[in-house]
Amino acid sequence: MDKHTDCEDACQLKEAKGYHSCQQTGLCAWLEGTNGYRSMRFAYADPPYLGCGKLYAMHHPDAMDWNEPETHRRLVERLCAEYPDGWAMSLSTPSLRVLLPMCPLDCRIGSWVKPFAVFNPNVPVAYAWEPVIFRGGRRRGRDEPTVRDWHSENIAMKKGLPGAKPPKFAMWIADLLGVDWTQDTIEDLFPGTHGMSLIWKERIPMLEEAPV
Ligand SMILES: C[S@@+](CC[C@H](N)C(=O)[O-])C[C@H]1O[C@@H](n2cnc3c(N)ncnc32)[C@H](O)[C@@H]1O
Repeated sequence: MDKHTDCEDACQLKEAKGYHSCQQTGLCAWLEGTNGYRSMRFAYADPPYLGCGKLYAMHHPDAMDWNEPETHRRLVERLCAEYPDGWAMSLSTPSLRVLLPMCPLDCRIGSWVKPFAVFNPNVPVAYAWEPVIFRGGRRRGRDEPTVRDWHSENIAMKKGLPGAKPPKFAMWIADLLGVDWTQDTIEDLFPGTHGMSLIWKERIPMLEEAPV
């Protein structure tokens, strides 16, 4: 398909952050929104990790389904189909070799590193990091800060939910996806302790206070 000339010109503008989807489709899709900028819809998925369904069986009768790779395959398919703008998914290091091949080749792997993690006496090498597979995201301008593909934060304490993420984790996920706080959304498919909606509340007042 020929490139749309107007679109290509417009995409050269520093403000044209919709360039990413424009490149993908070959169409001038981003021009549909006001001032050439469309809102994006992302997802974060933090399901029961492969083999860990039992941890959630008390509240979910079908929790053991998450011990089956096929359940995770369906989740990856859903993420790709419903969230073409971008998504991120947490998983454990032991399941990485099973789940990564289910993901499209343009996915990347981020790492949540845990300086303080659980050390079990019968595990000589601790499981002290967790992968995050992520895809897509808003294309950012050169004037915006570069985001690291790793995040260092201690495990969440006293949240009462196995697998709950620590306070700054959700902000890192949002940064990986390049969220525009004024108009994008991230749907948290397994919210648990609601870390994602809490950072939203935290970030929006900051924007309102920012000088114009
Ligand atoms: C790893 S935890 C998510 C933790 C969350 N991101 C947080 O920071 O609190 C997995 C979540 O999936 C939820 N869940 C939803 N549907 C489930 C199902 N069918 N079987 C098991 N857990 C399920 C659990 O209740 C749990 O909150």
